[in-house]
Amino acid sequence: MNRSKESIERMSAYYKNYASIFKKEGTSINKGVAYSMHIGYRDDNNFPGQGESASELMEKKLIKDADLHDGQQILDAGCGTGTLGFEITSLYPKAKVYGVDFLDNHLRVAYQQQVDFPTVFFSKQDYLNLAFRDNSFDRIFFCESLIHAQDKSKLLLEASRVLKPGGKIIIADIFMLNDDLSEEDQLGLSALRKEAGIPNFENFYTFTQQLIKLNFQNILCQNITGSIAATIPTISSTEQDISTLYSLSTESIALLKLGGLLSTIGNLFVKNHAGYFVITADIQK
Ligand SMILES: C[S@@+](CC[C@H](N)C(=O)[O-])C[C@H]1O[C@@H](n2cnc3c(N)ncnc32)[C@H](O)[C@@H]1O
Repeated sequence: MNRSKESIERMSAYYKNYASIFKKEGTSINKGVAYSMHIGYRDDNNFPGQGESASELMEKKLIKDADLHDGQQILDAGCGTGTLGFEITSLYPKAKVYGVDFLDNHLRVAYQQQVDFPTVFFSKQDYLNLAFRDNSFDRIFFCESLIHAQDKSKLLLEASRVLKPGGKIIIADIFMLNDDLSEEDQLGLSALRKEAGIPNFENFYTFTQQLIKLNFQNILCQNITGSIAATIPTISSTEQDISTLYSLSTESIALLKLGGLLSTIGNLFVKNHAGYFVITADIQK
């Protein structure tokens, strides 16, 4: 099923509205103008330290979980401004990373930075309908991009088509654990879906069943909700933030609005109705 033009426009507006926050939280010196658009990772043993942000720690975690090797062909599906690819190439200079995204605003930043990273390539593509040949990639990453797909089984089919036999998919995203939500939580989720152009929040158990059905093996699911929770507000912490703000700059207002939207997720995490997972699996062909 194709995305409606309206929902793509909503997604584009969402990322535009909150770009200043993503830039502030997700920019690193090494990656110049490019900024990450994911939630970021922290835990007691792995707290952002000197020169490292939560975004970089998340990228390093995904790279470690992906078991990369130099010389591999890697696809970053829904690459945003390309930071994951830049991180990969810094660690594996002989790997080739292809980043695809369908929003021009993000690709523009990626192209600007790409001059410093000759083994990273970008193109405007829909990850549900890729222009790459069958069996092209050793690894495919979906870093908080799967959530935007209308049809997750189509996404998995397309990923399995372009993966080489034995190739690995690496997914980092929010999944529902329980669909029995209160009216308040349902209203909050539908506001977030509408604002961010998210067609649906996938159920974790249904999704892993789809992986099995499509011949993915060695499926490893890590619930890392606790390691990203520090970045996601709950409704009570959002209220507290408001009272501690002295002046409301445009950025503070954007932060509050985003905090309000994301607090729905924070509350679902607290109630164990949703979780943040890193899922890796190998395709058998
Ligand atoms: C939350 S951002 C994450 C970006 C990047 N992976 C990161 O972690 O910084 C989600 C990205 O997925 C992209 N995206 C969503 N659906 C897509 C699709 N069908 N094809 C290509 N890109 C898509 C969006 O344009 C956006 O850049």
